[in-house]
Amino acid sequence: MDLGIAGRTAIICASSKGLGRGCAEALAEAGCTVVINGRDGATLEETASQIRASYGAKVVAVVADVSTRAGQDALLAAAPEPDILVNNNGGPPPKGFRDVTREALLEGVIQNMATPIELTQRVVDGMIARKFGRIVNITSMSVLTPLTGLDVSSGARAGLTAFLAGVSREVAHANVTINNILPGMFDTDRLKGSMTKMAALRNVPIEEMAKARMADVPAKRFGNAEEFGKLCAFIASAHAGYITGQNFLIDGGVFKGAF
Ligand SMILES: NC(=O)c1ccc[n+]([C@@H]2O[C@H](COP(=O)([O-])OP(=O)(O)OC[C@H]3O[C@@H](n4cnc5c(N)ncnc54)[C@H](OP(=O)(O)O)[C@@H]3O)[C@@H](O)[C@H]2O)c1
Repeated sequence: MDLGIAGRTAIICASSKGLGRGCAEALAEAGCTVVINGRDGATLEETASQIRASYGAKVVAVVADVSTRAGQDALLAAAPEPDILVNNNGGPPPKGFRDVTREALLEGVIQNMATPIELTQRVVDGMIARKFGRIVNITSMSVLTPLTGLDVSSGARAGLTAFLAGVSREVAHANVTINNILPGMFDTDRLKGSMTKMAALRNVPIEEMAKARMADVPAKRFGNAEEFGKLCAFIASAHAGYITGQNFLIDGGVFKGAF
């Protein structure tokens, strides 16, 4: 399917690896110019080269911490009039709720709530003026169902979802949409990191830990960044102008709800 976004410019935050990279690849494949981002310059450059080689796309690599004002400035300097914004960031480290300090709580809110709101504020009026805009937020299944140790993630992302639920209705008249994608368990460095910690805590090999977690997924596997990116690209496509304010759960069936 032609997604109808060839020639559009997309900023994909936190995209040198994992889910963000999956989104960048799918948007590059659809013909977009992609602005990719991460804090480690070497990893980011390698990803940029690979995306250029695979899709012949124009790729601009911005080394920056997206949580900071300076990082956001750098992203918007690279693409002052983006048509597509994919909000993504690192997630808070797993921690028992009693051990979450005020500092860690505020850090999580900055990362996963304030940053995507600030970037949305900065791009949305240009999108309205140009009568096209797609904002996609990578949130988490933890918005819908609690995950032990990820309370900061759940709270901050639920706050983002609620904040933008109203905004999405204010801007829909101008063909500007705001939607969220909620990943379950995806095979990325973040998942590997959390499984390594859990395996060490329980004193079991990581392979055993992975097997046990996969067994809980009705699809009997983890998701991959490629299939995640394809969903993102469709939500960002020309065909998705009538879809806004929605939460797209992509979790292999883990969340058990009929509606
Ligand atoms: N994978 C899952 O199963 C899963 C499930 C639910 C929710 N999520 C959430 O989805 C998001 C992406 O996860 P992932 O699994 O793709 O993680 P990942 O594989 O660890 O990749 C994270 C990417 O974000 C970049 N990044 C992190 N912090 C950044 C910052 N402050 N500024 C700019 N770039 C930054 C990293 O590069 P640098 O480190 O070089 O900056 C890397 O490119 C996270 O918020 C995660 O909590 C993931």
